[in-house]
Amino acid sequence: MKPFAGADHAIRIEVLDDAEAVGRRACDLVCETLSAPSSVLGLATGGTVEPLYAALITRHRAGGVSFAHASSFNLDEYVGLSPDHPASYRATMRRLLFDHVDIDAARTFLPHGAAADLDAEATAYEAAIRAAGGIDLQLLGIGSNGHIGFNEPGSPLASRTRVVALTEETRTANSRFFGPGETVPTEAITMGIATILEARRILMLATGTAKAEAIAAALHGPVGDACPASALQLHGAVTVLADRAAAARLG
Ligand code: F6R
Repeated sequence: MKPFAGADHAIRIEVLDDAEAVGRRACDLVCETLSAPSSVLGLATGGTVEPLYAALITRHRAGGVSFAHASSFNLDEYVGLSPDHPASYRATMRRLLFDHVDIDAARTFLPHGAAADLDAEATAYEAAIRAAGGIDLQLLGIGSNGHIGFNEPGSPLASRTRVVALTEETRTANSRFFGPGETVPTEAITMGIATILEARRILMLATGTAKAEAIAAALHGPVGDACPASALQLHGAVTVLADRAAAARLG
């Protein structure tokens, strides 16, 4: 498929049959990064990345990949959830990946959503990313409103790790990860758009019709805070893996 042509950037778009195929292809690309003597992964949560994590576990069990020399930084965490809350992103990452591969738990980082001083936590998270040498490959999903991480529409392109309010659309979409009667937090701590753009490479995954409009706006629309994912047009090394449903509006 043709790369997205712009002034001084290129976004490589690959369209695959379905979500499982996106997961398998993403697994190949993440394994390439992991084959370096050491690597720093930027990780995401959400339904889109689950087939990728399942594929990585399968590959690891078959002896095909090791995380022994990797560190990871997740994009975001809910404010107010302790790491052992089942819907926290720390617990989610343990369940979906960390507990099943040979990554050193001490080198898996997520913002602490239950920190007493969240501003200090955000500053420390940025410092930890820098101390690790920056992120080699940042994995992203996309919200149906175009968010990346929890940078909702209106987030400045220059934003860094900070506390943000979640939109009702995002809280409703994510209520499926919470138990009956549980309330989705109203805030999260997220890497900012500028933080994300500092990753050396970016890998965005999008699956399902609900993402078709957002992906089209991100890749073909104007760059601006109405669609936070449009900021990817400013980065020089982005690969987008979309299934046919998510790619439907790419033309
Ligand atoms: C999660 C995150 C979010 C999700 C997005 C898509 O860490 O940062 O931006 O990637 O909300 O979520 P799913 O994949 O559940 O549709």
